[in-house]
Amino acid sequence: MIKHGRITALVFCFLLLHFSPTHSNTVCIIGSGIGGASVAHFLRHYSAIYHPSQSPIGQINIFERNGVVGGRMATVTVSGETFEAGASILHPKNYHALNYTKYLNLQLKTPKLTDDSLSLGIWDGHKFVYKTFNSKSKLPIVQRLVSLANSIMIFFRYGFSLFRMSSFVEVTVNNFLRYYEGFNSRPVFDSVEEMLKWAGLYNLTTQTLGEELVEAGLSPLLIQELVTVITRINYGQSVNISGLAGAVSLAGSGGGLWSIEGGNWQMAAGLINRSDVVLHLHEEIESVSYLGDVYVLNSTKGKSYNCGVTVVATPLDELNIDFNPRISVPPRKLQHTHATFVRGLLSPAYFGLNLLSDIPDLVGTKESPDVPFSSISILKQHENDMTYKIFSREPMTDALLDKFFSSRKETIKINWAAYPHYHAPEKFAPFILDGQHLYYVNAFENAASTMETSAVAAENIARLILSRLSSGVDLSSSNLTSVDSNPSELHSEL
Ligand SMILES: Cc1cc2nc3c(=O)[nH]c(=O)nc-3n(C[C@H](O)[C@H](O)[C@H](O)COP(=O)(O)OP(=O)(O)OC[C@H]3O[C@@H](n4cnc5c(N)ncnc54)[C@H](O)[C@@H]3O)c2cc1C
Ligand SMILES: *[C@@H]1O[C@H](CO)[C@@H](O)[C@H](O)[C@H]1NC(C)=O
Ligand SMILES: *[C@@H]1O[C@H](CO)[C@@H](O)[C@H](O)[C@H]1NC(C)=O
Ligand SMILES: *[C@@H]1O[C@H](CO)[C@@H](O)[C@H](O)[C@H]1NC(C)=O
Ligand SMILES: *[C@@H]1O[C@H](CO)[C@@H](O)[C@H](O)[C@H]1NC(C)=O
Ligand SMILES: *[C@@H]1O[C@H](CO)[C@@H](O)[C@H](O)[C@H]1NC(C)=O
Ligand SMILES: *[C@@H]1O[C@H](CO)[C@@H](O)[C@H](O)[C@H]1NC(C)=O
Repeated sequence: MIKHGRITALVFCFLLLHFSPTHSNTVCIIGSGIGGASVAHFLRHYSAIYHPSQSPIGQINIFERNGVVGGRMATVTVSGETFEAGASILHPKNYHALNYTKYLNLQLKTPKLTDDSLSLGIWDGHKFVYKTFNSKSKLPIVQRLVSLANSIMIFFRYGFSLFRMSSFVEVTVNNFLRYYEGFNSRPVFDSVEEMLKWAGLYNLTTQTLGEELVEAGLSPLLIQELVTVITRINYGQSVNISGLAGAVSLAGSGGGLWSIEGGNWQMAAGLINRSDVVLHLHEEIESVSYLGDVYVLNSTKGKSYNCGVTVVATPLDELNIDFNPRISVPPRKLQHTHATFVRGLLSPAYFGLNLLSDIPDLVGTKESPDVPFSSISILKQHENDMTYKIFSREPMTDALLDKFFSSRKETIKINWAAYPHYHAPEKFAPFILDGQHLYYVNAFENAASTMETSAVAAENIARLILSRLSSGVDLSSSNLTSVDSNPSELHSEL
């Protein structure tokens, strides 16, 4: 009996040693945006499927310097009503976001104003070079006629180039859909380059959107006007962004766009809530030190955390996290977008118009030093005034706002470190920052920055972590050549 008891105790000790939560299977994620939340979600989801008896993942900590989760998904309240302040729209083929919405029982929202009834004007600083008809009629027949007239008008201005533009976008979107393929056909990617090449998207990052579209046979007029309007709205930049960022930007201007009722940030909140995560709000990570078998993360609260795996799920470009040993990523500038929300009324005179109703619902702009904003759009029409959203590259001063607003009741200004300043050819940071277990989700942002691309990158990082943990790339063996040289074989489990 005694013997038996000792064996049992030994076995029990062994089990404890083996399965008790230690820091080596603790995952620490810096950032609670859609990227960080998605890493946590997929780590739990795939562990449950592929390692049902013993998960290689222990505790998951998420650190967020702000008091709320969601990062660049956030809402703003203008006279009591909430609007998206950052990431606002999703594409109908953003399948991770769609799945999250279902999984979390969130409510899908589609814009009330359809594309047809939304009027658009292209402002060059002096005049509208293009302006659609505005139909405020509720009669379907009138709406349809106006919509037809607008289609004819846009065709007269830009011609067959419009079809070339949509086929360019369609091809790119279809390539992107490969990232939703199953594990049998889709490998785990060690680098952004490899990931983009596999889907046939890499070449689009080596040329500017302008160059790509000229090659695709688009007219210069379409590129300088409509395409420019769209890249200025979606990335605050010109057609000098890469072809891939440009295609993503153009895809985000089509039909069927949606968002989440009450705010897109709820995707991050819901995923974190359901992924057994220890969330540390108001806690900024200041340093990440690799001590040979563990990462030590120090926070502004004076606390230290031991982590076997560390995931950076935020752009590093404007942070000064102290990494020991140092890491190196290619220099990258972030494009700042100033989002200004105004409850009030625009001044028709500023636009050379007589009536307020002549100002288009969406004022897009061309590249010109004479234009102090990238876009102005109506978020909501009230009885006597409107709520507008203005995007600009520079801050909107009150003096400037008073030039084009005849009245302002409320003004809210947000300065976003919004997305990378794109250029071509793009240089990518590594997914694995130190050859060990320090991962970087936002390396993928040089391809394109959207909620969905963050989720797609995060899903790959989750697979990468699980496959590298289970293929024995542990913290003490510092050699990864075997993994890098034959990814498909070693990653076959996932
Ligand atoms: C104005 C604007 C409009 C946009 N429009 C769209 C759109 O319509 N559709 C779309 O799909 N995308 C849009 N985007 C892009 C989209 O918002 C981003 O691509 C996406 O939200 C990035 O998510 P992320 O999780 O990778 O990073 P983030 O959301 O930036 O999350 C990073 C988090 O990390 C936190 N953090 C940073 N450093 C630390 C630290 N040291 N310690 C702890 N926490 C830290 C930050 O506070 C932040 O919460 C828009 C962006 C902006 C700014
Ligand atoms: C979305 O969920 C469905 C059902 O669970 C699944 O079959 C599909 O693969 C998921 N899509 C993505 C992109 O994960
Ligand atoms: C990308 O460009 C390279 C070099 O120009 C070329 O060999 C390759 O076929 C291109 N790939 C795709 C998918 O177009
Ligand atoms: C785009 O790049 C070209 C070539 O570098 C440059 O001449 C032009 O000014 C740029 N355009 C804009 C709008 O930044
Ligand atoms: C968290 O998820 C549970 C279901 O797992 C749900 O009942 C609860 O309301 C959620 N909490 C929040 C704050 O979303
Ligand atoms: C992190 O905190 C620990 C404990 O306070 C301290 O010993 C260590 O020097 C700190 N590391 C860095 C890089 O600041
Ligand atoms: C580690 O990698 C180097 C090549 O970078 C190789 O020469 C060496 O044999 C490897 N060591 C082990 C233990 O695998």
